Amino acid sequence: MSIRIIVKDPDPVLREIAKPVPRMTTNIQKLLDDMAETMYDAPGVGLAAPQIGILKRVIVMDVGDEHGLIHLVNPVIVYKEGEQLGVEGCLSIPGLLGDVRRAMKVRVKGLDREGNEIEIEGDELLARCIQHEVDHLNGILFTDVAVKVYREELREDYDDEEDEGDQL
Ligand code: NI
Repeated sequence: MSIRIIVKDPDPVLREIAKPVPRMTTNIQKLLDDMAETMYDAPGVGLAAPQIGILKRVIVMDVGDEHGLIHLVNPVIVYKEGEQLGVEGCLSIPGLLGDVRRAMKVRVKGLDREGNEIEIEGDELLARCIQHEVDHLNGILFTDVAVKVYREELREDYDDEEDEGDQL
């Protein structure tokens, strides 16, 4: 495993549409492992392959809940419910945070590290993370969809101290 360099906005690779993975291979497994290591090192709670310059539909997430580390290849959101407004950051956009409206609950389908079809349901932070990472695969950054974007150091003025603005 190795830690990859995280691409930063405005690198144009972050604006491309990532391509589906035709089948699970050891190369894709290595990519997943490198992405997980890179995400934990950053540290962040989610990472999409375009963020390390690879235009494949591959994401990893670990929001610190019972799901642990999630590997997801060709993720497709099949269900969305409700709404949440919360703080979001991105490893590719250091120093900025945003208030972003997302669905409260989502269900996502895809392949796991072994190439098996899996379906994951998440709410709150996991739901937010899934939507943020799938956006990355479509060239969309949180700053495109945020209702408000601000510098990280202005964070202390924010009323909800619980909401730290995870790096997704
Ligand atoms: Ni991000």
